[in-house]
Amino acid sequence: MNITGSMSKPLNILFVTSEVEPFVKTGGLADVSSALPQTIRELGHEIRIVVPRYGAISDRKFRLHDVIRLKEIDVPVGKESMVANVNSSFISNAKGKVQVYFLANKEMFGRQGIYLNPDTKKDYPDNDNRFIFFCRGVLETLKRLGWQPDIIHCNDWQTGLIPAYLKTLYKNDPFYKNLKSVFTIHNLAYQGVFPAASFEKTGLPATEFDPEGVEFFGKLNFMKAGLMYSDVITTVSEKYATEICSSAEYGCGLEGVLQKRHTYLHGITNGIDYNIWNPETDERIAKRYDHRSFEGKADSKREIQNRFGLEAKENTPMIGMITRLVDQKGIDLIKEIADDILKLDVQLVLLAAGEKKYEDFFSILHRKHHSKVALHLGYDEELAHLIEAGSDMFLMPSRYEPCGLNQLYSLKYGTVPIVRATGGLDDTIRDVESGNGTGFKFSKYDSKELLKTIQRALKMYHDQAAWKKIVRTGMQQDFSWESSAKKYANLYRNLVKQ
Ligand code: ADP
Ligand code: GLC
Repeated sequence: MNITGSMSKPLNILFVTSEVEPFVKTGGLADVSSALPQTIRELGHEIRIVVPRYGAISDRKFRLHDVIRLKEIDVPVGKESMVANVNSSFISNAKGKVQVYFLANKEMFGRQGIYLNPDTKKDYPDNDNRFIFFCRGVLETLKRLGWQPDIIHCNDWQTGLIPAYLKTLYKNDPFYKNLKSVFTIHNLAYQGVFPAASFEKTGLPATEFDPEGVEFFGKLNFMKAGLMYSDVITTVSEKYATEICSSAEYGCGLEGVLQKRHTYLHGITNGIDYNIWNPETDERIAKRYDHRSFEGKADSKREIQNRFGLEAKENTPMIGMITRLVDQKGIDLIKEIADDILKLDVQLVLLAAGEKKYEDFFSILHRKHHSKVALHLGYDEELAHLIEAGSDMFLMPSRYEPCGLNQLYSLKYGTVPIVRATGGLDDTIRDVESGNGTGFKFSKYDSKELLKTIQRALKMYHDQAAWKKIVRTGMQQDFSWESSAKKYANLYRNLVKQ
């Protein structure tokens, strides 16, 4: 018997993603694409990952090597035949390794940016070609490899054409015949929408450019392809699964498609990797601590104050934020009340990167209130850990949030989340008012509500006994991947039985 508790035979799964920690990351997808496959493997299954071989991934740091068998694989993109090569590496933890394949083509992926040109901060204009190449390349690689998975688990729009290929071009090929697809939505707002002319480059039969297929208001929509042709759809929290079916605001125009495929849609809340995010073992923080005794948090707080020239005040609450600066994250609410927040006895610590309008806003705020605001514009994994440890509160007033990982990291680090009750934030945080709470929540997307909620948290902070109870309760929550990974494994199993 394996640890799934069943005698059934292990499954073979290919996990296809456009980001994976520690190789390449722009957001939570990378964390999930590393931790979920490792946990599926621990459940006794064989799982391998495929990701594009971006120029930003360092050969030397990660010891990528060529896979001799997987050289010069022809991949049709439009009328051209492009060539894919495959490099390989692995991710590992104390319990074992998961193989990672990198699909390489210099013209497509040999550049510094992942989706955006770093100079212009605009999407690469050939993202259609790049991800058509990736989707077809993955399927062509499998055949050359001669490894026949039971399940192909696709993630977000960049992989959305794979289910469409399986149900059309590849459906009569015995190699792919029994391959079932799972498609996970991490963020419905990014859909991969391209002009109709891009459709021809997919090589899909003309009949599929139809409202019942990949067509979306006269354009090609990769996300819609994933939703229409996959055997099962999942998303990363239960609440978000409901939200995306219920309104255009959350459904981003695909709510009708999701309502139609509603019986195939499952919400499975993300877990987090406590091997990486754990104040008991974290080497990136000033002093380690746990839920029994968390005085060590103060050392990281002091370190942040020193590093950023904030006043060394132990009892002034520090509010942390680590985020992509995009509309999703509720930054406009913070903009409206930033001066009001800074009239209070608080320190704000921000680690963020993204849209220029928000970067400019925070730069100005920092200049104006430099003794109370610490700002690092950019991406910094080390600093993210220090902020999780040193802050007293963590702010996530998202407009929408499919799951959110930072509120879960915050719980583990005893940093009390202040969140808007949406998607995964609502599912994972209990307001202190409900008793046995782990954080502070507000519902209406309104800056006054946010300000009131911050004030509520600050008031509670000064009742140290009550505050410690909230911190301790949060630190004792268990959001490890095991129970969610079992849910994925059950879905895989049910698909294979069909
Ligand atoms: P999303 O995927 O929508 O950005 P999540 O909360 O799921 O939101 O995941 C964000 C991940 O990216 C977290 O691991 C967070 O620590 C990390 N992150 C975001 N911005 C930065 C940054 N500027 N520097 C370092 N890490 C960041
Ligand atoms: C997306 C979502 C985020 C989620 C992450 C991982 O980036 O915005 O809420 O946690 O994917 O699933």
